[in-house]
Amino acid sequence: AAETGIDGWLRYAPVPNANASGLPINIVSLNATANGPVHAAASELQKGLSGIFNHSLNVIYPTSYQLSDTASSIVVGTVAEYANAFGAAPKTPQLENDGYFLNTTGSRVQILGRNERGALYGAFQYLSMLAQGNFSEVAYTSNPDAPIRWVNQWDNLDGSIERGYGGPSIFFSNGTVKINSLDRMTQYARLLASIGVNAIVVNNVNANASILTTQNVEGLGKIADTFRPYGVRVGISLNFASPTANLVYGNLSTFDPLDSEVIDWWQNVTDTLYARIPDMAGYLVKANSEGQPGPLTYNRTLAEGANLFANALEPHGGILVFRAFVYDSQHLNESVWTQDRANAAVEFFTGLDGKFAENALVQIKYGPIDFQVREPASPLFAYLRNTSTAIELEVTQEYLGQQNHLVYLPPLWKTVLDFDLRANHSKSLVRDIISGERFNRPMGGYAAVVNVGTNNTWLGSHLSMSNLYGYGRLAWDPTSDPQAILQDWIRLTFGLDPAVMRAITNMSMASWPAYENYTGNLGIQTLTDILYTHYGPNPQSQDNNPWGQWTRADHDSIGMDRTVANGTGFAGQYPDEVAAVYENISTTPDNLLLWFHHVNYTTRLHSGETVIQHFYNAHYAGAETAQTFPTQWEALQGKVDAQRYNETLFRLTYQAGHSIVWRDAINNFYHNLSGIADAQGRVGNH
Ligand code: GCU
Repeated sequence: AAETGIDGWLRYAPVPNANASGLPINIVSLNATANGPVHAAASELQKGLSGIFNHSLNVIYPTSYQLSDTASSIVVGTVAEYANAFGAAPKTPQLENDGYFLNTTGSRVQILGRNERGALYGAFQYLSMLAQGNFSEVAYTSNPDAPIRWVNQWDNLDGSIERGYGGPSIFFSNGTVKINSLDRMTQYARLLASIGVNAIVVNNVNANASILTTQNVEGLGKIADTFRPYGVRVGISLNFASPTANLVYGNLSTFDPLDSEVIDWWQNVTDTLYARIPDMAGYLVKANSEGQPGPLTYNRTLAEGANLFANALEPHGGILVFRAFVYDSQHLNESVWTQDRANAAVEFFTGLDGKFAENALVQIKYGPIDFQVREPASPLFAYLRNTSTAIELEVTQEYLGQQNHLVYLPPLWKTVLDFDLRANHSKSLVRDIISGERFNRPMGGYAAVVNVGTNNTWLGSHLSMSNLYGYGRLAWDPTSDPQAILQDWIRLTFGLDPAVMRAITNMSMASWPAYENYTGNLGIQTLTDILYTHYGPNPQSQDNNPWGQWTRADHDSIGMDRTVANGTGFAGQYPDEVAAVYENISTTPDNLLLWFHHVNYTTRLHSGETVIQHFYNAHYAGAETAQTFPTQWEALQGKVDAQRYNETLFRLTYQAGHSIVWRDAINNFYHNLSGIADAQGRVGNH
């Protein structure tokens, strides 16, 4: 099974110079919850060490261990249980919730968590070191940067997945939970826990009320039982209009969030869910967006809508995640120069800061539009200061090649996480806002839309798993270096061969810039088909429709004027210093020029090139980079098992070809539209 990809980065392949004689004798699992994370940690250690060292260790449980058995051991558990067992508290500097202390310096390896989940994370970290051939002595504490580290699955109950490219759902089919696919869920739970993810929302944000039926509550309970040993709590997406859907809880004629019957209805549903899933993470709600029902239907605010659920969850300790992706997709009108979908989030949340319940969290897509290849950071991160927030990222490559293209995303995410929004004229990095640090919020963090499916590769292609791995690593520590994360993933997934390391590093690190170059550059958002597939070149699909992903391209000029002086005013949603940068063409970075300004094709960039010539050149440069991918990969034949080698070569070959389709489609489109020749004579003469 190891070579099919189903183990992802948890392969525990034999490491060339792993010497079992250096290993402790036993694994000691300190007193812990039955079937809880410490037990999972112990069996994971056993499994991992036997793979890496080809050597089997016994696990000793608290009922039977003797202190004499533990002198040469790997001790895993919570700090409190360690103190119980050994009569003295270990020295574990600054250990926080979900954090771990890993100490390999003595004959007794210590893997200790403040809680059980932390102990499991420490075990995974220890195994990750060893699996990468790192046998050095370490002693350190690692704490997560933020408490919320969730994934979202957009799985429908019929088994399809919205924007999923790795096959049908592992969770649902025919309207119910796939209780016969629990082993796939266990595998997924392991992968998530190994990167520090602590909750999963299992159904689509475009939610169906029937997730709440009696049968599905029981099914969700089984999912939660499966994820619980790995410290991954389960949450669900809700349809705001569920009270009117005629479920077993009584059918109402309204879903008004201030109606007392509606409030009781949701309390009853919530109590029912918690009776089966006492540790349920909470709810995720998409409301008043893209045709979904919501509080605005009854002239209630978004906060009133969110608090309906937050209040029902509060007695159970659950969290309500309310999505900031609220906009009106039906009534935007491109003929009005000042209209702008990018304005929607801040507009819809205006006046609501501080109005959300303490256990509510607003989940904000990284950019103001929709997971594009490049976006400025959403200004909502700076607007909400008395409200807890999380960033929403997308591992599934919806607009970014749908796993048919290698696009390593952490460098893109870092452009937003590291962005300084200069709230109150002081340092306000997005990552410090969502961690809760900047505005002193009690919680906050990360969500990623992942959308794994039943495919053996999970996401649809082997190389795309670096994005899931990178997501977890960045959510744990957003200051980590994307290339270092990538290289850990390469060693864990493909072994230690330096040629493999070189090739996958080069391709991955070149992949996002290349994709930006051959698809949509200069901040044009996307030139893909936005109407249906979100795939392949279709630069005319952006305009003349109410979706608001406009380019406003005509014969002479292109781009969205988002200035305050002459445009949609979006630039003015940022704190002063940032607003001033984007308001002015001369200070706007080239890579966001067309996001903020409407300019002539002949306008010169900071680089000295004209806009149109940059289009031509970038599309050639991006496609040229992609042409090197298959050849770089072919050099690895024999160094990667045949199945993963062949499947990956197939994808990279396709990408190389499709990048040329992109290049020529986009260049010809703008050549025809502008009538301006390519200075290098490549475009339009064939
Ligand atoms: C995008 C995506 C939709 C999704 C929506 C959302 O528009 O294409 O499929 O429902 O985002 O995030 O809610």
